[in-house]
Amino acid sequence: MAHVISTINLKGGVGKTTTTVALAETLSAEFRKRVLVIDLDPQTNATTMLIGEEKWRKLNDSGRTLARLFKDALEPNNKQFDFNTALQKGVSDVSAAKTIDLLPSSLDLIDVQDQLASAPSGKFYSVNPIELLWRAVKSKLDDYDIVIVDCPPNLGIITLNGLRISQGYIIPTIPDILSTYGIPQIVTRVKEFSDEIAEPIEPLGIVITKFQANSSVHANVLRSLQQGKDAPVFETRIPQANQISSAAESTVHSRTLIQKYGTFAHDYRKLAKELLVKLEG
Ligand SMILES: Nc1ncnc2c1ncn2[C@@H]1O[C@H](COP(=O)(O)OP(=O)(O)O)[C@@H](O)[C@H]1O
Ligand SMILES: [Mg+2]
Repeated sequence: MAHVISTINLKGGVGKTTTTVALAETLSAEFRKRVLVIDLDPQTNATTMLIGEEKWRKLNDSGRTLARLFKDALEPNNKQFDFNTALQKGVSDVSAAKTIDLLPSSLDLIDVQDQLASAPSGKFYSVNPIELLWRAVKSKLDDYDIVIVDCPPNLGIITLNGLRISQGYIIPTIPDILSTYGIPQIVTRVKEFSDEIAEPIEPLGIVITKFQANSSVHANVLRSLQQGKDAPVFETRIPQANQISSAAESTVHSRTLIQKYGTFAHDYRKLAKELLVKLEG
């Protein structure tokens, strides 16, 4: 059975997408896992990091993104989303990462999210709007070992669609005051949602990103996260590093994990290993 996890934080810019993509690439290249990345964030960063902007534009123009899945729910007489034509196979510029597929996102998800939120419930007939993604992917998930859902920085309907298919979630965060502010709210809300749908959704852990070892703020916030009861903290911390931010630009030529992430490839390997131990025991 596939392990499905969501990547969540209410704050943008904390490394959610970078963590999602680096984990996907490491799990594929180093651990030989079949990985599906589901990009639910209208910012489409995971999508462009994995397939580049040009390819994304073509898909977007032809309705082959997840925005179309949600639009279909609002236009039941004009159903267009097709899993197989939206699915991008063998994405990523990391040469050894040959087993990553992607369900791409679209900027159009911004409007769709608003429309879903304001649509009268009768609009969806018998379909629950938090189950749209689940209905579209449930029969495909077991083609993968690990599915990672990159969620937008809120707990709206689109994010709930991601959580609906997830058995767990990770919370990437910079260990500073503002980035960690929403963590208790995430954990409480996801617990409520998990109770509502009667499916467990475990807080797998907080991933410390952009860590600065010489920062007293980072040291203090890290300590309080470790002492807190919201969620466990992964032992592996991802340092703040230029090489990690420059890895965001997808290249035409394939490269190794070391060429892409430098020595930080080892940190992502440790993080991926820690995650696998949590998922597989
Ligand atoms: N460890 C890191 N060191 C330096 N820059 C990083 C690191 N992780 C992410 N970034 C950069 O920070 C910005 C936000 O990261 P991103 O993963 O897009 O965050 P989010 O998905 O939470 O909005 C991007 O420009 C990204 O390249
Ligand atoms: Mg992002």
